[in-house]
Amino acid sequence: MQQTVCITGASKGLGLELVKLFYAHRYRVFPLVRTNAAANDLLKEMPTCHPIVADVTEDTCTDILKAALYAHTNVLDILINNAGIPGVAYQIAQVTTQETSELFNVHSLGVIRTVQAALSFLERSSVPRIINISSRLASLSKTASGEFYEGGFSYSYRMAKAAQNMLTLCLDQELRSRGIHVSAVHPGKLNTKCASHDANMDPKEAAEKIFAWCQAAGLHNSGYYVEPGMGKLPW
Ligand SMILES: NC(=O)c1ccc[n+]([C@@H]2O[C@H](COP(=O)([O-])OP(=O)(O)OC[C@H]3O[C@@H](n4cnc5c(N)ncnc54)[C@H](OP(=O)(O)O)[C@@H]3O)[C@@H](O)[C@H]2O)c1
Repeated sequence: MQQTVCITGASKGLGLELVKLFYAHRYRVFPLVRTNAAANDLLKEMPTCHPIVADVTEDTCTDILKAALYAHTNVLDILINNAGIPGVAYQIAQVTTQETSELFNVHSLGVIRTVQAALSFLERSSVPRIINISSRLASLSKTASGEFYEGGFSYSYRMAKAAQNMLTLCLDQELRSRGIHVSAVHPGKLNTKCASHDANMDPKEAAEKIFAWCQAAGLHNSGYYVEPGMGKLPW
């Protein structure tokens, strides 16, 4: 049977490359984008994909996503929470609660909304999987060991991704016994709009590594925090 995947943040960058790759591998793809224009662009290139227009920072996203899936399928095999935005404040004096709230909303609350929408569909899959696109910058261990000491990384981004990592672990604890594989994936340092100053990888290459890892990973490595092709990261 044709496998199904829903990918958020599908208009550009890593999300778009993941959509193209899963589509090329004959998955039934549900890309989530924020605008009708982005949905139409996807349909021009991939006429049989099913774009969903929603914003993961809004509570309405849950019902929109649920209804859009329900219109086409009972089953979802993979949910990839990829939508994200960078932060701009690198020093405490510049941090604003507004930016921090926005980042938490996208990276952490957004994942709650999409998982709540997708859960009953995932439960009907024989190989269900939730992949949260995290970041190396989410790692408390790496941060504590001084790996990012040189700065140049935003407070809100690191805090929001760390919260998303905790959500990944909470989801794994609840859902693994129900057969749902949950993981946090650092995709690499990508040359995209979200790029850090030390970016060195094309998003297409990152998508290929994630796809290959996804095919190989089993329930025994649910609850992992990984960089596909490189190995595990410390939480
Ligand atoms: N770039 C890196 O080096 C790097 C490293 C580690 C992790 N990551 C993570 O990888 C993921 C993809 O990032 P990227 O580098 O591919 O960035 P990107 O090119 O800027 O793409 C981000 C995507 O997220 C979408 N998005 C943003 N806010 C959204 C919202 N509220 N609702 C729905 N969609 C939303 C954007 O849609 P619009 O077109 O509508 O803005 C866009 O499609 C992010 O979670 C990022 O944190 C990136």
